[in-house]
Amino acid sequence: MAPPPLKRRGGAPGKVSERRLQQVFLVGEPRVELRVFAGAEELATAAAEEFAARAHDALSRRGRFTAVLPGGSGPIRFFEILAGRKSGIRWSRVHVFWGDERFVPPAHPESNFRTAQETLLAHVPIPQANVHRIRTESLSPDAAAAIYEQEIRTFFRLPAGRFPRFDLVVLGLGADGHTASLFPGSEAVTEDVRMVVAALIARLGTHRITLTLPVFNSARAVMFLVSGKQKAEALARALEGGEGSEGLPAPLVRPRRGPLLWMVDRAASGLLRR
Ligand code: 6PG
Repeated sequence: MAPPPLKRRGGAPGKVSERRLQQVFLVGEPRVELRVFAGAEELATAAAEEFAARAHDALSRRGRFTAVLPGGSGPIRFFEILAGRKSGIRWSRVHVFWGDERFVPPAHPESNFRTAQETLLAHVPIPQANVHRIRTESLSPDAAAAIYEQEIRTFFRLPAGRFPRFDLVVLGLGADGHTASLFPGSEAVTEDVRMVVAALIARLGTHRITLTLPVFNSARAVMFLVSGKQKAEALARALEGGEGSEGLPAPLVRPRRGPLLWMVDRAASGLLRR
């Protein structure tokens, strides 16, 4: 079924800056949507709109919005645009968590918390108690993972064996097909009991703390942000499979009861067959 022609914001149907293709490689998997944007700025703007819309919806239904923030440098513009939004998000009711963290102190330039703090959280009225960062200081990687799992379990009041249902999980995609800190070949990818694990990433020579697939696949919605030519191969493998896509972590993110949005720019979509 061809998607309906999209209205250009405020204009009649025509050449669009965004193209939606539903039900791509994940045939049979409902609610998978690919949105292709002209460039990184349009992508970041649309992602901020999606975040705000889901925040609004969650607040009207449940009185709070729980979001998992992505790491890396790709989301910086998304964070900045979100911070610049003058209205529409009741930050006092927003709780933010992280999909993963580098095993560094919170003030370290590599810290995912620091990136989000400097480009978003420091600029919006979110209570400190609503910022659930992965604590790394004076802990072993395994202890940091266990403590974060307990924090999530307590926050969602979860009995043993149950996984949290975040309102929105935002993820990036590495050029090798990793997402969060679920790297190809790492044990963390096959974890199906724990919510949070520590992983030693051999090629980076460092530990990472990461949420696991059962958590991502229990979310109410998942949104991937993928920008740039350097991600085109990984995106094509994640969406269309084929050689080298076996065991890649990103395509294993398939929320059972919610939409999976692939928000990508034209450069990243360059190798997609469709
Ligand atoms: C991290 C991330 C990681 C990231 C990808 C893409 O901590 O690095 O969680 O999964 O999303 O590596 O990173 P970029 O967006 O910076 O390319």
